Amino acid sequence: MPDNNSPIGIFDSGIGGLTVVKEIISKLPAENIVYLGDTEHLPYGSKSESAVRHFSLNNSAYLTSQNAKIIVIACNTASAVALNYVRKHIAVPVVGVVESGASYAVTTTKSNHIGVIGTKTTIRSKAYTQAIKKLNPEIKVTEAATPLLVHLVEENWVEHSITHLILQEYLAPLLDAGIDTLVLGCTHYPFIAEQISKIAPNIKLVDSATATAHAVSKLIEKEKITTDRTQIDHLEINLTDIYADTEKLASNFLGRAIFPRLVNIPDAAEGLTKKAVSPSS
Ligand code: DGL
Repeated sequence: MPDNNSPIGIFDSGIGGLTVVKEIISKLPAENIVYLGDTEHLPYGSKSESAVRHFSLNNSAYLTSQNAKIIVIACNTASAVALNYVRKHIAVPVVGVVESGASYAVTTTKSNHIGVIGTKTTIRSKAYTQAIKKLNPEIKVTEAATPLLVHLVEENWVEHSITHLILQEYLAPLLDAGIDTLVLGCTHYPFIAEQISKIAPNIKLVDSATATAHAVSKLIEKEKITTDRTQIDHLEINLTDIYADTEKLASNFLGRAIFPRLVNIPDAAEGLTKKAVSPSS
């Protein structure tokens, strides 16, 4: 059974979720963190909803087997399509980046028109629109899939003129639609926030990583499960595959050297076959 000093379990499709880890460490430095990056199944952003649900349940079950006291779904795609499914099957509280980013965006917009960018699966799910409208049905939401951005960030082409051109192309319809706030609905996008601001200087950007760190801090306070440790920063990073450049890229995401462990995770969804996971569950 997890107790107050048990770790916060965080998962992502890969190493992009380390942007969320970084924010959680800076907000809650004494908490233990166990991270799982499902690099074997990366990317989630172009996979079917049922596959992403299946992976998300396995990741969550692995983290609870590591005694996690809460689960944070750092991946926007997994949060968009698997949050309710994971909540249904996992006993500890589950926080997703979509709900956190949506509620922050609702408090940020003045014109009541929010834009969202994310992977194809995130945008197709309309999870951000639903989460925003649940909080305020008056708010208009314009979403756009921006799938090339993950690759540009991973290539470290953040400052590249091609990235600037692609961003101009992707952002034009959102700016024309009249948004005043833009949710960066993907783990990788905080890296290009500056470039986005150059193209859209008057648009307020909502980084779902920061919003999630805030939500996690509020949740553990509410549940009275804050650690009583004072020693800071114990982070364990587990990956389901390690390949060329993984460590370099991951260190870049976290802002310091990382020492990942390669893990095999069992299939927790046994008996709940992929097909049994209906898209609406
Ligand atoms: N982590 C994913 C997200 O935030 C991006 C990478 C992927 O497609 O798996 O949506």
